[in-house]
Amino acid sequence: MKGTVVKGIVRKLDLSVSQMRRIRKAVEAEMDAGLEGRKSSIAMFPAYCDAAGGHEQGFYLALDLGGTNFRVMMVKLPGNKRKPQVVAEAKYKLTPAQIGGTGEALFGSIANYLRKFMNDHCYTKEYGLGYTFSFPVNLLGINEGVLMKWTKDFSASGVVGRKVVDLQNKALRRKGVKNVRILALANDTVGTLQAQAVVDPNCVMGVILGTGFNIAVRVATSHIHKPIGAYQGASMIINMEAGGFDRALPLTSYDLQVDRESGNRGHQRVEKMISGKYLPQLVRLIVLDLVKHGALFDGVVPTVFAQRDVFKGLHMDVFDAGSVKAVNALSEELFGRVLAPAERRILSGVCRAVARRSARVAAALIVASLDKAERRSATRVTVAVDGSLFEKYPGYKRMLQASIRDLAGVEGKRIHLKLTKDGSGIGAAAIAAVSLASG
Ligand code: GLC
Repeated sequence: MKGTVVKGIVRKLDLSVSQMRRIRKAVEAEMDAGLEGRKSSIAMFPAYCDAAGGHEQGFYLALDLGGTNFRVMMVKLPGNKRKPQVVAEAKYKLTPAQIGGTGEALFGSIANYLRKFMNDHCYTKEYGLGYTFSFPVNLLGINEGVLMKWTKDFSASGVVGRKVVDLQNKALRRKGVKNVRILALANDTVGTLQAQAVVDPNCVMGVILGTGFNIAVRVATSHIHKPIGAYQGASMIINMEAGGFDRALPLTSYDLQVDRESGNRGHQRVEKMISGKYLPQLVRLIVLDLVKHGALFDGVVPTVFAQRDVFKGLHMDVFDAGSVKAVNALSEELFGRVLAPAERRILSGVCRAVARRSARVAAALIVASLDKAERRSATRVTVAVDGSLFEKYPGYKRMLQASIRDLAGVEGKRIHLKLTKDGSGIGAAAIAAVSLASG
């Protein structure tokens, strides 16, 4: 009986190749709709820049805002496809009051942090800055865009519907930061793509698999049928906002509940199946269901699962693939006892099934997006990937690669997934440099 319940749930999370094919087709249709400016769950926001070519040079500041950790960096681009360097870096933790208060307070604290960074490092000259702002922004040009909605628990008031760079510039002026010019505003996916493209021009896609999920892809400008202002280049990077995709998804009752309990109900449906923020929530709901059916923990909900967000992604890592010693130590910490082998097996099976489904859904979106990509080489394509899920989750990269091959066949072998650390920082600097080069 217990075994049947567990198997039934794991089976529900198992995505077949034909389900992946359906998702791939639906993604392509939504991408077309987005590029034509029709209603679509994939926004396809123009990034107003092409992929870097490797010749970009100079010192640039980068601001990286995409989660509660906020970073300021000075980046050196050496040019000649040589590896960029982060010359100086500071990380600050934003408080719940800063991300959930007023926009003025949020941008004011960012300006304060930037001023402190400039003072600490005696940066007194004029600097161009690339701003990675990892939220759905409808760009109006390379250095201005309107925030469409907040995601990832941000809710600062007075920002949605407003111009982000304008708000940040006002805050810089208020705080007396005079020697910084914001040259470019970009999404983290675009930054990740660019950070890889400066050393490898075959990179035409950037993916984030972390707290959130999203894809940026280089497309031929002739395929973009919505207004793109005075942009002249033959290709352009598009911030897809792929996390919003909501068609052809085999949603389970757990997905529906995660959505119902989220702060952005009805939105970011595929992100809620893929990204690191939601996977532990799915595991928790499945565990609660198993407990309800008497299939786990003798029908009693352990405290760690009683409330949301206590069981975390890093716990999933351990239960999925940790050594017995590590699992036992964590069990002591979370459950106050060592789990019985059967309990351990079930918990690890659930974690693996949730992570594997995430990788398979992500693979379908990546393959579909590559179908539309404007490549620089017919034989090789690099996909830059950043984010904790891809980097740290045991076996995630392998599952993603295998799923891409399942779906794309031989073509899948030409797709190289490349971990691109600090993409959003280095990439922001690269975008600032690209923006200067294109005038
Ligand atoms: C969310 C944001 C998107 C970002 C992604 C990864 O989906 O809406 O802009 O790229 O998270 O950080």
